[in-house]
Amino acid sequence: MEKTVLLTGGAGFIGAHVAVELQQLGYRVILADNLSNSQADVVGRIGRITGVDPKLWDIDVADRTELEGVFAAEQIDAVVHLAGFKAVGESVQQPLSYYRNNLDSTLTLLEVMADYGVKRLIFSSSATVYGADNAVPYTEDMPAGRCTNPYGWTKCMIEQILKDYALATPDFSAICLRYFNPVGAHMSGLIGERPNGIPNNLMPYVTQTAAGIRQELSVFGNDYPTPDGTGMRDYIHVVDLAKGHVAALDYSFAHTGWEAINLGTGKASSVLELVQVFEQVNGVKVPYRIAPRRDGDLAVCYADASKAKKLLNWQTEKTLADMCRDSWNWQKNNADA
Ligand code: WQD
Repeated sequence: MEKTVLLTGGAGFIGAHVAVELQQLGYRVILADNLSNSQADVVGRIGRITGVDPKLWDIDVADRTELEGVFAAEQIDAVVHLAGFKAVGESVQQPLSYYRNNLDSTLTLLEVMADYGVKRLIFSSSATVYGADNAVPYTEDMPAGRCTNPYGWTKCMIEQILKDYALATPDFSAICLRYFNPVGAHMSGLIGERPNGIPNNLMPYVTQTAAGIRQELSVFGNDYPTPDGTGMRDYIHVVDLAKGHVAALDYSFAHTGWEAINLGTGKASSVLELVQVFEQVNGVKVPYRIAPRRDGDLAVCYADASKAKKLLNWQTEKTLADMCRDSWNWQKNNADA
């Protein structure tokens, strides 16, 4: 009997890629999304890749009545919880809406899962929970907290909520996947990152600059203690990330308790390295200027990826060149993205 997986926030960048991987492995996928930061046409795009349009429930996950409706209508076996606001800078400007939205949606989800006896949850967490005090490469046993923004604190608080709930619910499985920097797009060019307005993140800004939508890239600081002075991050291809969710889901069906697992490559690349690879693999120019550092940025952030390999038998396969090639392919095919 095929298992049914509910993806909250499933119409988004990560969700669409997880939906594709799950469907291609025979899972039945349902999306619950209020489309506040995504578009409904992703359903047809997923369908063009896999042959099956996932069912979309256009609801607010924090609304208990609406969410109960989904669980009452569907036989859900597990949930991948991706729904949440995720812009670091915006969270500093609007902390209350971030705490309200991200925490409420999680608490409502857990209450409804309990009502319907659904006992497996994969949570979209973030490397930002490691805060500013830990030394790289980050390992999952390090203390989380001392986050540098409300967005990060919501991830940290939700991990704690899940830890306490799993402790109080013996046969419950909660797996927190700590994403590093997801970039790239499915090689079909049909799904990818669609930031609203001016991109905060590096890769979409690079692709829009290469496409002439943005005039030039501002490199936020070249005076960091790194080989070329620019910030270093653990960029992970979104398809590798999606496969990591499938591996975590398979693991969760034979697991109870709480686990945090890094999803990263275990390697760090600098801003200028990424720009150089992007120009080389795509044969385009990315004009840039060196600008002042951005508040809150760390010099270096990357994963120790060994726990995911050991526990899930999962590791990344795609290179920075693949990430740059697939990001550009998405941009070229979706100029309005
Ligand atoms: C990467 C590097 C910048 C833009 C954030 C969140 C994280 C996750 C991913 C949600 C840094 C530099 C960037 C630009 C630049 N978000 N940069 N010019 O800040 O590592 O992580 O996004 O899940 O939780 O914290 O990603 O892409 O913004 O920055 O020089 O126009 O690129 O300084 O070194 P970040 P990013």
